[in-house]
Amino acid sequence: MDEGQPDGRFIPVARLDALDARGRTVVHVGAVRVLLVRVDGRLHALEDTCPHRGGSLSEGDLDGHLLHCPLHAWPFDVRTGHCPWRPEARIRIYDVSVRGEEILIAASDSVATR
Ligand code: FES
Repeated sequence: MDEGQPDGRFIPVARLDALDARGRTVVHVGAVRVLLVRVDGRLHALEDTCPHRGGSLSEGDLDGHLLHCPLHAWPFDVRTGHCPWRPEARIRIYDVSVRGEEILIAASDSVATR
């Protein structure tokens, strides 16, 4: 299963078997917590930290493509990072590619180079 065409921006972050029974896992990319989540058979990568008060979106409930923050229920579209309730409260999303058993995201410019 391949999703997208990886290029130099993509870095490996996890293997498919790291996804839990709900199709989720959280990885650290530099200082950023990134949620990998499978919805309708497609993987999405998004910032795990809610811009409202820092809730962990990986613990939220999904309603279609909307992932609700577990703290105050703000919804975020896993495809776009938009919050339909609060247009200014957008989270970062990352392009995802799967190569064999490996999940890659386009986040090379986010990784601290120390
Ligand atoms: S911390 Fe996410 S909605 Fe409040």
